[in-house]
Amino acid sequence: MKRVITYGTYDLLHYGHINLLRRAKAFGDYLIVGLSTDRFNQIKHKQAYFSYSKRKLLLEAIRYVDLVIPEDTWDQKLEDIHRLEVDIFVMGDDWGGKFDFLMASCEVVYLERTKEISTTKIKQDIFVR
Ligand code: CTP
Repeated sequence: MKRVITYGTYDLLHYGHINLLRRAKAFGDYLIVGLSTDRFNQIKHKQAYFSYSKRKLLLEAIRYVDLVIPEDTWDQKLEDIHRLEVDIFVMGDDWGGKFDFLMASCEVVYLERTKEISTTKIKQDIFVR
């Protein structure tokens, strides 16, 4: 059984997120999502509209997602990969190259982002209306 992991905030869930999760799952049999906690979002200067528990609830309802774990720090990825016996680390290509240091521990894949949609864009468009 191949285990895949990906990380993100997944606020205001949109079809770009679904596309990413579907393609990530297709790399293996079991998909883990490291979901940014509200505390970690503060550190990243990111304000999510939905709280961690609401974002987790939404992710857990997606058929491609098998497990949601909290992402609290930048540095936990290596530990997660070993503890959860992850084979493949997947991220959107906005992170291209940034996690190559994990290649010693697992396969690292960057997927092309879905064009013209992001949580930031949704927030901006709704604000303008
Ligand atoms: N993602 C994607 N295509 C999009 C938007 C996001 O493939 N159009 C991917 C990201 O590359 C990441 C995951 O979905 O691997 C979670 O991204 P996240 O940052 O939570 O979503 P964004 O919509 O990019 O949020 P923001 O605008 O706040 O950065």
